[in-house]
Amino acid sequence: MTPSVAVYPGSFDPITNGHVDIIRRSAEVFDQVVVLVAVNSEKKTLFTQDERVDLIRSVFADQPKVKVESFEGLLVEYMRQRSIRVVVRGLRAVSDFEYEFQMALMNRKIYPEAETFFLATRENYSYVSSRILKEVFQLGGCIEDLAPQVVIDAMRAKFRPPRREVAS
Ligand code: COA
Repeated sequence: MTPSVAVYPGSFDPITNGHVDIIRRSAEVFDQVVVLVAVNSEKKTLFTQDERVDLIRSVFADQPKVKVESFEGLLVEYMRQRSIRVVVRGLRAVSDFEYEFQMALMNRKIYPEAETFFLATRENYSYVSSRILKEVFQLGGCIEDLAPQVVIDAMRAKFRPPRREVAS
């Protein structure tokens, strides 16, 4: 039987525990989940594409079902090239629906074989976004249970680089 493969695209700047939850649950349903660090042309990112890929890889280092890749271009083009039909997306609140519905329909218009599967986000992550995480962290708030430790360490390095000794 052909293995079932799903792609979970996003900008992941950076990955949060909300994303981690969606990926883990998808991996229970599909044989392989490709986490695709894609480009959202409307966003200026804190982490480079390679940094975002490395962070996700280290979170899922012990999960062979999860593969992490990056891609510039149309999501459906990536899918078509690899004969992947399923896109997974998380829905946090009703406010996500319109944008998600628009993307799902557009993706299917360009690649009719594409099907989008929506997973309801766990309620304790329904208010989390990468932007809000960065903002709270930068202003000194605690995000311990909202992001993996590697992400917290990476943000610390970005926002609070170690002080250099100044030679006198
Ligand atoms: N838990 C926590 N946060 C979540 C979440 C979850 N389950 N699901 C989404 N989020 C957050 C994200 O962190 C993101 O936060 P941010 O806006 O502060 O960065 C926000 O919700 C929106 O996430 P998402 O909807 O996944 O947007 P995105 O920018 O991460 O991804 C792409 C959009 C990359 C999938 C889309 O632009 C794309 O497919 N690009 C490729 C080009 C293409 O094909 N374009 C045509 C699309 S029709």
